[in-house]
Amino acid sequence: MNAVLADAGAPERARPGEAVEIAPGVHWVGALDPALRTFDIILRTANGTTYNAYLVRGTEGVAIIDTVKAEFADEFFARLEAVARYDEIRVIVLNHLEPDHSGALPELMRRAPQARLYISTRATSMLKALLKPSEDEPSFEYQTVGTGDEVSLGDRTLRFLHTPYLHWPDTQCTYVVEEAVLFSGDVFGCHHCDSRLFNDRCGDFRFAFDDYYAHIMRPFKTHVMDALRLIEPLPLKMVAPTHGPILRDRPRRYLTRYRELSSPRFTEGLGEAQEAHKTLLIFYLSSYGNTARMAEAIRDGAEETAGVRVSLYDLAGGALQPFVDLIESADALALGSPTINGDAVKPIWDLLSSLAVIDLKGKLGAAFGSYGWTGEAVRMIEERMRGLKLRVPVVGLRIKLIPTDAELEDCRAFGRALGAAMTGANAGQTLEFADLV
Ligand code: FEO
Repeated sequence: MNAVLADAGAPERARPGEAVEIAPGVHWVGALDPALRTFDIILRTANGTTYNAYLVRGTEGVAIIDTVKAEFADEFFARLEAVARYDEIRVIVLNHLEPDHSGALPELMRRAPQARLYISTRATSMLKALLKPSEDEPSFEYQTVGTGDEVSLGDRTLRFLHTPYLHWPDTQCTYVVEEAVLFSGDVFGCHHCDSRLFNDRCGDFRFAFDDYYAHIMRPFKTHVMDALRLIEPLPLKMVAPTHGPILRDRPRRYLTRYRELSSPRFTEGLGEAQEAHKTLLIFYLSSYGNTARMAEAIRDGAEETAGVRVSLYDLAGGALQPFVDLIESADALALGSPTINGDAVKPIWDLLSSLAVIDLKGKLGAAFGSYGWTGEAVRMIEERMRGLKLRVPVVGLRIKLIPTDAELEDCRAFGRALGAAMTGANAGQTLEFADLV
């Protein structure tokens, strides 16, 4: 059997066919994917990624924690076979069933049919979809577990933590009690491939760590905080995620970073009065100034509502990312677009597409715009907002070409209606704009 002992003084490096011992009786048996440049279509990976899987040996058997992407199964099995026989495996834990971690699971089940699989309750439907049991391939025994449940391997104990939505509903963490090692799944992971494996040996991966959080965990900040409340009280010698470096040097720094990244940022510096206000952000684009005039009038109307602070931005003059940060901490979002060739204009769609990385639950949305012929843009924006889980309490406002004084008053009324919905005066209703003028 080939294993490399990874004490801090050794020149350790993951080599083909070798497992790397990361703690007494605990081995890394994952795979390296240094050539990957785009993960899941959306996430760039300048240094590739790793699919980290682990093996825990106790006096009464072996556990495998997570597997690897299917294309890397041979690499995983070679490392596993370097430190264990398949008939020793009693326990398989899948902390998360996305294919980059469950790809080698069906084959592992075939090779270790005596092992029992442990997954979260929410993972059950995904497991069935993944394995698609048939007459040729009978279904595998599995057991669902939650926070505090334990499995004993004799002198090693696996304890489970229910940490859903990080970043799928099924996600959990597994803690080796005697070694104070947390197998955290995607949490605290990053796409950074370095065969030196450990955070104190790898190149600088801080950018990759923050970038991974921003794309994968950011929409689930409240769930991150819930998970931190479970993880922070644990004694921790090491955090072993499923991607990127194993965090053995001062692992709590990474918990602190997650807490920082998940905490509100934009109320600071705006004063106590701002924190007490509801915030409405109005973004617009305008070809001939008509949608801009609507935006200004809506702002004026919304500002009449006590407790509402309104900000107005021309999308033609700003970069998207700062706007996404602002929207994350706002209560309501109004988008104004002219209709050009039967559609809203591209910067509106770009902004809406960028919102997938933040949690929009509980925020309000509204749409408005001037149009020449057909005016589809407003309805299209509203539909997209609903798709993003924004509540759209006031039916969108469309004005043909140049707004008259009466129509600008309509815009102010639209702003007042939106302000009322934000402060709770019309909560739970969808207001027909015609009823408000
Ligand atoms: Fe690394 Fe969500 O899978």
